[in-house]
Amino acid sequence: MKVLAICGAANKKRNTATMLKNAFDGALSVPGTSGEIVYLYDLNFKGCIGCHSCKLLDENKFARCAMRDGLTPILEKAIAADLILIGSPIYFGDVTGETRSFIERFVFPGMTYNKERIPTYPKRHKVGWVFTMNAACGYYKDFFSGLIGMMNYVIGESEYVTACQTQQFEDYSKYAATMFDVEAVKKRHIEQFPKDCEAAFEMGKRLANR
Ligand SMILES: Cc1cc2nc3c(=O)[nH]c(=O)nc-3n(C[C@H](O)[C@H](O)[C@H](O)COP(=O)(O)O)c2cc1C
Repeated sequence: MKVLAICGAANKKRNTATMLKNAFDGALSVPGTSGEIVYLYDLNFKGCIGCHSCKLLDENKFARCAMRDGLTPILEKAIAADLILIGSPIYFGDVTGETRSFIERFVFPGMTYNKERIPTYPKRHKVGWVFTMNAACGYYKDFFSGLIGMMNYVIGESEYVTACQTQQFEDYSKYAATMFDVEAVKKRHIEQFPKDCEAAFEMGKRLANR
């Protein structure tokens, strides 16, 4: 089983990347799995430009993103992977711009405007999401459900884990951030975040086993 983990967070050491690494390690704990983690912020790429080449009834173009940039080899790997793990912080109620651009370029070629709306990729994937955010747990439930529903339909069986009310700064006193209950955030980071990482590990393991 091939695993591709896509990190849509800029920082490789903070909440999202840490949780995603746990999900990846969980997947790799299953014998016979191999893969890699790709950091989207290391790549030079853009979102879908709406050229619709992927909808052309041309076997060389259909269901393939025609754009050529840093994401091109990653899209090939994603199509070939069995399990895709995606991590993103929540930025303004959505995934990060880089994650969104990846989704546009990966998911749009996987669907058509045909009446039957049959997904185009040769195989179904499994998808595990990691979301981290400042908000309280459950706040973005509807957004996650919509994203998971779309992935379930176009790409394959999907699920997600979250870390809420994450620690954003080491030292809150240095930032304009008085709205936070700093002690509660720090306590949660020490007590809850390791459990969130454990849940990410278990999700990776569960999906790789399925
Ligand atoms: C530009 C920006 C926008 C953000 N918007 C939201 C938001 O809309 N909702 C939320 O809950 N958290 C928001 N956050 C907080 C992050 O989602 C949260 O701190 C996350 O855990 C950061 O992930 P990281 O530690 O991997 O960088 C935002 C942070 C930034 C930098």
